[in-house]
Amino acid sequence: MRLENGIAIKASQLSQSFRRADGQLVDALSSVNFEVLKGQFVCLIGPSGCGKTTLLQIIAGLLLPSSGILEVGNQVVTRPSPERGMVFQKDSVFPWMRVINNVEYGLACRGVGSGERRAIAEHYLERVGLAHVARAWPRELSGGMLKRVAVATVFANGASVLLLDEPFGALDYVTKRHLHNVLLTLWAETGRNKPRTVLFVTHDVDEALILADRILVFHTGRIVDDLALVAPRPRTTDTLLMPQMVQNKHLLLAHLGLETKQAGTGATSSIVRAAND
Ligand SMILES: Nc1ncnc2c1ncn2[C@@H]1O[C@H](COP(=O)(O)OP(=O)(O)O)[C@@H](O)[C@H]1O
Ligand SMILES: [Mg+2]
Repeated sequence: MRLENGIAIKASQLSQSFRRADGQLVDALSSVNFEVLKGQFVCLIGPSGCGKTTLLQIIAGLLLPSSGILEVGNQVVTRPSPERGMVFQKDSVFPWMRVINNVEYGLACRGVGSGERRAIAEHYLERVGLAHVARAWPRELSGGMLKRVAVATVFANGASVLLLDEPFGALDYVTKRHLHNVLLTLWAETGRNKPRTVLFVTHDVDEALILADRILVFHTGRIVDDLALVAPRPRTTDTLLMPQMVQNKHLLLAHLGLETKQAGTGATSSIVRAAND
């Protein structure tokens, strides 16, 4: 089976069930099908517990699906690979290694020589604005700086598929916006020689609208919407005011249960439902 040229990731009838401690089966993913093009920046959005992390773990090769097939670059994924880099929701940095050693660790594991890996690590630390803390310990860095280290590391490793699981979820607005710029700049730059396909999980609607070429909306283990965002880049706060973006924002908020859909019109009202969770 060969993926068509241009397709980076393909999920076919992908399902994952877990048995909970009380013996009940939970369907984290139910017959999920999608294709992602090479170089595409895709955001996954959906309420907590809808299977986003499970999907990223399967793509990373950390979890084998209960059924169905997940292919990356013409190969069925059965184990982790340096071609697929993941930034986890929580810490992605080893606390016992200095910053520079963290960034070059993956390269060292793959036998890249010390001079070359140091140069690559220094390059990406500089790109994320952390050259001055290369010799520091992670405990000396702020939360935003640690996320920069994680971004530098995943790019230094040279993966062609980047799996980012709510990487900036815990950060303040300003730090988050800076990191969006850093991430998008690196993604666009490396795209010319070697396209980097990004799957970025978020529950932040504005973050998805700023970052994504496409947004996959998940609900209880299924894809319930697939939105293409054609707004030009770089995107700014003004971009978010474009009619297409405003419409998509309402649609996403409705999917997240924060706005009610008006029957028959396809539009959403701005009545915010009382939080029910
Ligand atoms: N290892 C596990 N064992 C049992 N249940 C799990 C496990 N991992 C995830 N789940 C369940 O699968 C569902 C999807 O989880 P997850 O993929 O983490 O969702 P999300 O990332 O969208 O919040 C949830 O109901 C969660 O409780
Ligand atoms: Mg999750």
